[in-house]
Amino acid sequence: MLSRKAWVFISLLCITAISVFSKSSWILSVYHDSFPPQNASLCGCDKCLKEYDPWFSELMNASPEPFLAMKSNISQDTFTWWKGIQFEKRSFSYYNTTVERIFQVFPPSPDFAESSPDHCRTCAVVGNSGNLNGSRYGPLIDFHEIVIRMNHEKKIYIWLKANKDLVMILSPAFMKYVHFVWLKNKGHYPSTGFLTLILSMHMCDEVSVFGFGADRAGNWNHYYEILKNQRLRTGNHHGNLEYELIQELYQRQKISFFRGW
Ligand SMILES: *[C@@H]1O[C@H](CO)[C@@H](O)[C@H](O)[C@H]1NC(C)=O
Ligand SMILES: *[C@@H]1O[C@H](CO)[C@@H](O)[C@H](O)[C@H]1NC(C)=O
Ligand SMILES: *[C@@H]1O[C@H](CO)[C@@H](O)[C@H](O)[C@H]1NC(C)=O
Ligand SMILES: *[C@@H]1O[C@H](CO)[C@@H](O)[C@H](O)[C@H]1NC(C)=O
Repeated sequence: MLSRKAWVFISLLCITAISVFSKSSWILSVYHDSFPPQNASLCGCDKCLKEYDPWFSELMNASPEPFLAMKSNISQDTFTWWKGIQFEKRSFSYYNTTVERIFQVFPPSPDFAESSPDHCRTCAVVGNSGNLNGSRYGPLIDFHEIVIRMNHEKKIYIWLKANKDLVMILSPAFMKYVHFVWLKNKGHYPSTGFLTLILSMHMCDEVSVFGFGADRAGNWNHYYEILKNQRLRTGNHHGNLEYELIQELYQRQKISFFRGW
């Protein structure tokens, strides 16, 4: 088993603690990032998320592998960016050693089936916005094959107890990609919710989004924080820009968006 210190680092490494529930099994993603400019049976849904759209496909094509594998290499640039959003400042070699140790415990490469014309993989991405309260979306959310939720890193222990073979770690390169490519380097780093939404579009054929954005009164107070640094409590996530992108994805029919009010 890893020492306590290593566990703490894991939770920092997984600053985005994301759980993915599937009715039959847990599924996580390796994907092939090609979105050809034709739309022949990319998946088994009526409309596949990965159908070509100039704006969308360009953003998606720029993505690295979303999940870390034992053999993943991250560049010095990526490490430096990622270190900038961590609470604990450690060296690249400490990171490398930790990643090595992590993959002695967790599966060395993510296990995920690609999209296929035989299957329509539907996902619900459930954010933490207060606008979920009283929305009665429960049954609708459960209707999806995969439910993706975000949680505080504290709770990662509880998930780990569930089954370590189901743990996958988001790559720092993917986080950096979301920040630079989607958010054009605005704000300090992407919110966990937004990261998860972009991740889901790489994993799923159809994405429904719940619990994102402001509540009826315009409050963003339930958005999750990545860091526990008081100084960084507000203003880092560029919530409006993220929300505009969600609207754009909705208008282009890439996602369904359930606003909750
Ligand atoms: C393929 O996608 C293009 C652009 O979205 C659309 O105009 C066209 O009708 C689609 N073709 C088929 C066969 O669905
Ligand atoms: C990681 O780096 C090694 C050595 O430079 C290289 O052989 C390997 O192909 C790289 N792996 C990936 C996934 O880029
Ligand atoms: C950490 O690993 C990467 C490859 O993933 C390598 O390029 C880098 O030099 C290593 N850094 C240190 C300090 O060991
Ligand atoms: C959810 O809404 C109910 C009814 O309006 C309210 O009593 C409760 O405090 C709300 N819960 C949260 C966590 O905001």
